[in-house]
Amino acid sequence: MEVASYFAQVQQEIEEVLAQLLQVKALPESRLYEAMGYSSLNGGKRLRPALFCAVLDLLGVADKKPFLPFAAAIEMIHCYSLIHDDLPAMDNDDYRRGRLTNHKVYGEAMAILAGDGLLTYAFQVMLGVTISGVSAERVLAAAKLMADCAGLSGMVAGQAVDILNEAKALTIGELAYIHRKKTGAMIKGAIGSAAILAGATEEQIKALTVYSEQIGLAFQIADDILDVAGNSEEIGKPAGSDDKNGRVTYASLLGVEEAYARGEAAIADAVGALNLWGAEADLLRGMARFCLQRRK
Ligand code: IPE
Ligand code: IPE
Ligand code: MG
Ligand code: MG
Ligand code: MG
Repeated sequence: MEVASYFAQVQQEIEEVLAQLLQVKALPESRLYEAMGYSSLNGGKRLRPALFCAVLDLLGVADKKPFLPFAAAIEMIHCYSLIHDDLPAMDNDDYRRGRLTNHKVYGEAMAILAGDGLLTYAFQVMLGVTISGVSAERVLAAAKLMADCAGLSGMVAGQAVDILNEAKALTIGELAYIHRKKTGAMIKGAIGSAAILAGATEEQIKALTVYSEQIGLAFQIADDILDVAGNSEEIGKPAGSDDKNGRVTYASLLGVEEAYARGEAAIADAVGALNLWGAEADLLRGMARFCLQRRK
């Protein structure tokens, strides 16, 4: 299937599951549910769920439906990371996915809590998943991987190092560490958790791990390039945010052309790691290229 139509299909499926999970409750805290929904139900590329689903397809899962709450939970973690990333204390950005950021609409306190709510709820959902033919051990292992990738071995650590290095000169190696953690880890988690749930072999997991690490790097290189070369309208968030915040990026360190070349090398490695498979991995090959070539 074409990458674009596959994304469109996953976007619709994930939107439905998220809408179900994030229904506003008539409770004193209903505004918290509204804030959580505001930043989760408004689109986005749904890259991580799409990769998750593509791995299930690759590994021969016939019915993906019972796996979708797990994929939606990964997206909730991602949406929480965006809400907190945009906060005044972090990147201080006013637009996300083409509209005002969460704190601009709900205030900082509710934005922080909406992030906390999404993160916690995500684990509640992941750990509550039951899929016939998938053991509780596998569900537990997949959720544990997501905890590693979202938290101290992954995204939160990367965000911390990103902030700690504001206005500092970095080597390409130090920058690669940040990218691997802040962005690569969640992508690795989405792919790895799908592989675990689908019962991938050691060899398959190894190949998919290399693939995920390389596309994760390329994805953040593209994000860095779009921050200088993209336009705010198209990317749905303010271009120039990195420069404003004194962040070293692949684009600022190497220039756009060389940064793109590094991205291409990563994509080549990612595609190479899929040699275990034939045409059945073409979708993942296409998604790898999308990670770099994307325009938003
Ligand atoms: C943005 O992620 C933050 C990064 C990790 C670079 P996406 O580019 O996947 O954002 P959405 O979900 O499509 O809005
Ligand atoms: C942050 O990277 C990635 C996250 C963990 C959210 P950026 O700060 O560059 O992401 P954008 O450009 O705001 O989406
Ligand atoms: Mg940031
Ligand atoms: Mg940001
Ligand atoms: Mg960025």
